[in-house]
Amino acid sequence: MFNEEFQLDAPIRWGMVGGGRGSEIGYSHRAAAQRDRLFTFVAAALDLDAERGRDFGTKLGLAPERCYPDYKTLFEEEAKREDGIQAVSIATPNSTHYEIAKAALEAGLHVICEKPATIHVEDALELKALAEKQNKMLAVMYGYTGFQMVHQAREMVRRGDIGAVRVIQMSFAHGFHNTEIEKNSPGAKWRMNPEVSGPSFIIGDCGTHPFYMAGMITGLKVKSLMCSRQSFIESRAPLEDNAHVVFQFEGGAVGTLWASAINSGSMHQQKVRIVGEKASLEWWDEYPNQLRYEVQGEPVRILERGMGYLHNDDPGVSANRQGGGHAEGFFESWANLYHRYALAIDAYNRNDKAFLESHWYPDIDGGIDGVKMVNACVKSADNGSVWVDYD
Ligand code: NAI
Repeated sequence: MFNEEFQLDAPIRWGMVGGGRGSEIGYSHRAAAQRDRLFTFVAAALDLDAERGRDFGTKLGLAPERCYPDYKTLFEEEAKREDGIQAVSIATPNSTHYEIAKAALEAGLHVICEKPATIHVEDALELKALAEKQNKMLAVMYGYTGFQMVHQAREMVRRGDIGAVRVIQMSFAHGFHNTEIEKNSPGAKWRMNPEVSGPSFIIGDCGTHPFYMAGMITGLKVKSLMCSRQSFIESRAPLEDNAHVVFQFEGGAVGTLWASAINSGSMHQQKVRIVGEKASLEWWDEYPNQLRYEVQGEPVRILERGMGYLHNDDPGVSANRQGGGHAEGFFESWANLYHRYALAIDAYNRNDKAFLESHWYPDIDGGIDGVKMVNACVKSADNGSVWVDYD
């Protein structure tokens, strides 16, 4: 069972950049960070529009003087306070992550950054080096990886329950952008602009999630890939709203990724299927409390969250806030991750390297990998869908 007893000396003073009123993902960060009382939300630069950000911040309970007009002022002013923020989450459009994360690390803050971590691989590598120099946590918000059944899949692969991995099928293919909705949606509009979104739309926006998850479950590293991408809504070119990627992994496994925003009628279709030599596993984010376990020659088994037959000695599997049968969901997954971030920040503050070595959370290495994948896909697709080496 999840341990809700307080494990820190005091809650971590926490701020946000982005995630303002009406944003897609701001509430999820606030809900997850404050869920277990490990973070207290005390300051922010929530919005590009300073006045709207201030108004929203005060209505969320922030002191008016701690609702800042921009991230630079937030970091500068908070550094002057004895009770200034210790950690910050960055929930702004993609092209701003690098400069904001860099400034936050330079200001001595722990950072939780949205995905894709950066646009360019070199920038993500630079952030990693800076975090190491500053001895600060740099996490990337792959929010679906807090689900217990994803950890169960990882444990099953690790323990050999499905045998050596042969094939990985990944998809995140929704239908929400099957028409030109960006005409009336600011949150969709920046996603179609290469200057803000980066060189890809849907591979970076959605494909990075199952890609990270599959790597987390199997531990396999990509050797080479080939990508085909299209813009079915022509005005989105050069950014794609649909893509297929074929992967070769080190050690011989192969895989595919379908990332799409034009899969009409589909809600999410975020699935990871791992095919081993004896059995297969499949997880779907629309049914996150279940994991399909298919052993060749036997009836399909649906493993359920919260049950004694799972690999519960792994804390990721047994992190149940409620027993099996009661549905847990997206916010529990995010809260599980924020819980892990809090423990990591505490360990960084205590310089507890032994704890950090054994403590898993989505860190900048996964962020770098996602940025690398996106850029390799663009290179492949834009050169006629050729195979490209990953490194
Ligand atoms: P959005 O467009 O809905 O909201 C962005 C917010 O950031 C707005 O409030 C805007 O005013 C503010 N903002 C923009 N630039 C800013 C700046 N320089 N300083 C302060 N505030 C600024 O965007 P959305 O959908 O919330 O996405 C934000 C980020 O989160 C993106 O990188 C996206 O890829 C990621 N995301 C991640 C998800 C996940 O599951 N981990 C899900 C949805 C988005």
